[in-house]
Amino acid sequence: VPVQNGDGDLTLQILQAVNEHDIVKSADTFPNTSQTVIKAALDRLASRSMIEYDTKDSEEVRLTDEGQQIVAEGSHEYKVWDAVRQAGRLSLKDPVLATAAAKAGQGKAFKNKWVKKDGDALVPLTDAVTDTTRDDLQYVADHRAVRRADDLKELRKRTLVTTLKVIAYEARKGPKWALEIPVEVTDLTADMLADGSWEKATFKPYNFKALGEQSPGTGALHPLNKVREEFRKIFFNLGFTEMPTGRFVDTGFWNFDALFVPQQHPARDLQDTFYVSDPAEAGPPGPDPEADAALAAMEEEDRDEESSNQPLTAPPTRTLDYAQYYQNVRSVHQDGAFGSIGYRYPYTDAETRRLVLRTHTTAVSTYCLHRLAAHPRPCKYFSIDRVFRNETVDATHLAEFHQVEGVIADYALTLGGLQGFLRRFFKKMGLVGLKFKPAYNPYTEPSMEVFAWHQGLGKLVEIGNSGMFRPEMLLAMGLPEDLRVYGFGLSLERPTMIKYGIDNIRELLGHKVDLGFIERNAAVRLDKA
Ligand code: PHE
Repeated sequence: VPVQNGDGDLTLQILQAVNEHDIVKSADTFPNTSQTVIKAALDRLASRSMIEYDTKDSEEVRLTDEGQQIVAEGSHEYKVWDAVRQAGRLSLKDPVLATAAAKAGQGKAFKNKWVKKDGDALVPLTDAVTDTTRDDLQYVADHRAVRRADDLKELRKRTLVTTLKVIAYEARKGPKWALEIPVEVTDLTADMLADGSWEKATFKPYNFKALGEQSPGTGALHPLNKVREEFRKIFFNLGFTEMPTGRFVDTGFWNFDALFVPQQHPARDLQDTFYVSDPAEAGPPGPDPEADAALAAMEEEDRDEESSNQPLTAPPTRTLDYAQYYQNVRSVHQDGAFGSIGYRYPYTDAETRRLVLRTHTTAVSTYCLHRLAAHPRPCKYFSIDRVFRNETVDATHLAEFHQVEGVIADYALTLGGLQGFLRRFFKKMGLVGLKFKPAYNPYTEPSMEVFAWHQGLGKLVEIGNSGMFRPEMLLAMGLPEDLRVYGFGLSLERPTMIKYGIDNIRELLGHKVDLGFIERNAAVRLDKA
């Protein structure tokens, strides 16, 4: 049988030693090999039951430097006696007797009756002495143990020896004793079954204690993703359905026209909006089958849980007419319609087809609200995704960021209801005492900016924008007269920066982001009030 030599020859040497001696003491047989290495080899053999072993803890006695010196030169008392004997008579003031060691040795030399005092000098009492201290230490050097157990305390106190815990192993033959490690088979093959060799093969046992491969650096969620998840949970808890937001590139129609942003509005300027150059235009507004399917699936899922998504009295369903919708939007801009007097400027079709990187997620809300006209009913939609604005990048602005947006459609909604909802929504993020300030959006009336008290800054800070969508916008879509819609939006970056204590947005997004920070940052919890 071929032999596996995993850890050099040590396992083989152990096997040979056990074969010869029955019991092998690791410290004696392999004095120059570390006990850790020996243990690894023993474990290899023991796991195959070829040997068994016990762990022996013991205490070894070792000489200190001073102890070694005594073994080499003799004890302090010996050196005192030797100096006195050679001198015949040694003055107590002699420098030889002045060292600390000599002072310690004098006492012992008196006690041993090797020297005595004679006036102001020492004289020897004997011609020959036995230096037991040195002999005892020599024993320690030879045996790593003291000659008489009682001496240990005394020698330690005199700092001549120290003790040391040592671990050693005693190995003997095990139930599957063998002199060689048989090759272990890891796979049962068809050949082995055919030729019968499986019967005699030694199969490698499963190692259920293996730790598995260290993961080579795991991925980490970006802080924005974590805060986004918190927002999603809040929305889902409030019974909202998530809108499909995959369309980063949209037309002027959905991003601006349907929201009654005038075609000459400065927000549409190249300075504020990124226009796509290739292709520069899309066809007329129409359905987005992918988005429709996604939203339908989401609504189906949420409907099971949220009965409020059911219409109170189901209005007749109808087929969406995108061409008609387009004409309606055009009429509102150019001539006025649905109760609006309009902007009264010549509306250009080219502008409506231009492709833009969407500047807000309200483009998505608009598409979904128009789709609602096929089957008008109360509903709550939200989205959290990326938007783009051609802005100068600074510490708080990037050319792309994320919007959190919600729309609520229901019968008989009021502005007070919107304020109540916003209070409820922001309370879930720990923001209370909201203030509302009248504002302007071309698509909502009334519109309100939302402010909350910022404890750290000690002032009110703007946290969002909101409003009730204009009737001419909803009626142009074909939604029923008494179905009102709230809308509100906020950036995802602002609460994230506050939660993670980041004051420069470039530490959060872009090429300057410290990946270590992304990896280490904690999970976020919005402190719910
Ligand atoms: N679109 C607005 C913004 O970008 C937010 C908003 C959405 C306001 C819906 C009112 C209604 O700030």
